[in-house]
Amino acid sequence: MKLTYYGHSCFLVETAQARLLIDPFFTGNPSAPVPASAVTCDYILLSHGHSDHTGDAAGIASECAATIIANHEIAEHYGAQGLKVHGMNPGGGHNFPFGRVNLTIAFHTSSFDQENPPRYAGCACGIVIEADGKRLYHAGDTALFSDMQLIGRRGLDLALLPIGDNYTMGPEDALLALDYLRPKLCVPMHYNTWPPIAQDAAAFAARAAQADHLVNPLAPGRSLEF
Ligand code: NI
Ligand code: MN
Repeated sequence: MKLTYYGHSCFLVETAQARLLIDPFFTGNPSAPVPASAVTCDYILLSHGHSDHTGDAAGIASECAATIIANHEIAEHYGAQGLKVHGMNPGGGHNFPFGRVNLTIAFHTSSFDQENPPRYAGCACGIVIEADGKRLYHAGDTALFSDMQLIGRRGLDLALLPIGDNYTMGPEDALLALDYLRPKLCVPMHYNTWPPIAQDAAAFAARAAQADHLVNPLAPGRSLEF
């Protein structure tokens, strides 16, 4: 499978059968290497309602006729706009044509934060994708939690983990998350977009290497095969 990083928490995952875009945030994202109009996909997976994860979801879903996969409340929100949606909730999995998606717990808030007042957007989630014999975990925005051990138990080829601190776990807790998850590879996310989440990803990777964890701080716009 091919992974492309678009900055912040946005990734494109290309499986044999489908293009999956996770947490699309291009417009207003200072780290986005391309505009939203440059990306095409078949599915859009959303971890929670915050605008730095859902900002371009409706626009891209409409442009590409993509199906939005998210928690029930977020799916209902976009379904009411006439978009194709598939609602789920933590603990639940579903077999899609490209593979299986499971939503996991995450410790974070979730709302449609661009509305005044912000409106409930279900709970924040993590996302596990199984396709082409690989298993990938996008943690969304979250604190460290010990149940990550369970997510790692079936084996992970790739974990996408926030390291920004302030809004999510920072590097210290992300190192503990790696001990729980034991992925073959970790790509850090949710850092350096704005000053409050500035982090040294190379230093994080070096500290992870001391504990035998492989971390690849992918620059926005870059891809890797896993
Ligand atoms: Ni958030
Ligand atoms: Mn966020």
